[in-house]
Amino acid sequence: MRRAKISIIGAGNVGATCAHWCAASELGDIVLLDVPQTENMPRGKALDLKQTSPIMGFDSTVTGTNDYQDTANSDVVVITAGIARKPGMSRDDLLSTNAKIVSSVAEQVKSSSPNAVVIVVSNPLDAMVQRAFQVLGFPSNRVIGQAGVLDTARFRTFIAMELGVSVEDVSAMLMGGHGDTMVPIASCTSVGGIPVSQLIPDARMAEIVQRTRDGGAEIVSLLKTGSAYYAPAAATAQMVEAIVRDKKRLIPCAALCQSEYGVGGYYVGVPVILGTGGVEKIIQLSLTDSEKAAFQKSVDAVKSLVASMESLLKA
Ligand code: NAI
Ligand code: 2OP
Repeated sequence: MRRAKISIIGAGNVGATCAHWCAASELGDIVLLDVPQTENMPRGKALDLKQTSPIMGFDSTVTGTNDYQDTANSDVVVITAGIARKPGMSRDDLLSTNAKIVSSVAEQVKSSSPNAVVIVVSNPLDAMVQRAFQVLGFPSNRVIGQAGVLDTARFRTFIAMELGVSVEDVSAMLMGGHGDTMVPIASCTSVGGIPVSQLIPDARMAEIVQRTRDGGAEIVSLLKTGSAYYAPAAATAQMVEAIVRDKKRLIPCAALCQSEYGVGGYYVGVPVILGTGGVEKIIQLSLTDSEKAAFQKSVDAVKSLVASMESLLKA
């Protein structure tokens, strides 16, 4: 059976770590690409990773390159190219630089892998996935943003830490943009099937929600040299797995919403079913009034971010 071909554009912290998770889970043959200025860096990382294969027990090939020809006809392309946050920077501070980088990457992916499902990770995520969609011209089900799996993982981690229970028993949903307005959906959050509201008082839950919203900034302030990468990369690898193994996972991803939730043509985090076709369905939840209001605030923030990006790109 032919193995899936997974190309990861940007061989930095998130890209290389994502390659690691994908290889260790034997999700397919992996190509790690970075700009020519990085010369042999992607080759070095790929060879190092390949040399873990006898220990980890995977047969996937891992190729490092600066040439899009090596990524040709990928089944999945992950875009992590761009600059990352440093202390004092918000995700939105990355807007101008990363919009240009993601545009140029998407141009290349469009011609080298016209049938791929593309997962965008670069920040600010909701604007970058919208930009990739504009440039790629692929059907929207094949252009997806990674944020919700990461943000939900942070939320689940904090809930498990609070209750002293296994993370495996914590199930959660989170919607909206990948930013300060993200909306953890408490009504869809449970522990061992028990609604979280029966286990954690509202005031404490509000603190956990805030820590989740600040989850990226908390890591930036600790690392000082860049932003989180283990959990973002693992989240992306989970999406890659859902696609290459047609798992039909019901997880939050940034998907193009038209009539769904009344969004009207923007990428925002919503629950989706993810399989070989990419986003196979957007799930419409019934939200409480306060969740609806918080989601609308988040959508408005995404719209204003996209508007800023479009004016920067015109300038
Ligand atoms: P990094 O700086 O370690 O790696 C970025 C890599 O992109 C570098 O190796 C750089 O040479 C490469 N690159 C730059 N321009 C390129 C181009 N035109 N083509 C190919 N490669 C190019 O940064 P890190 O930590 O890997 O983060 C990458 C991006 O992912 C950042 O924008 C960051 O904010 C974002 N991110 C998003 C998350 C999410 O949940 N959506 C979570 C974590 C990071
Ligand atoms: C994060 O949430 C920086 O978006 C990145 O860690």
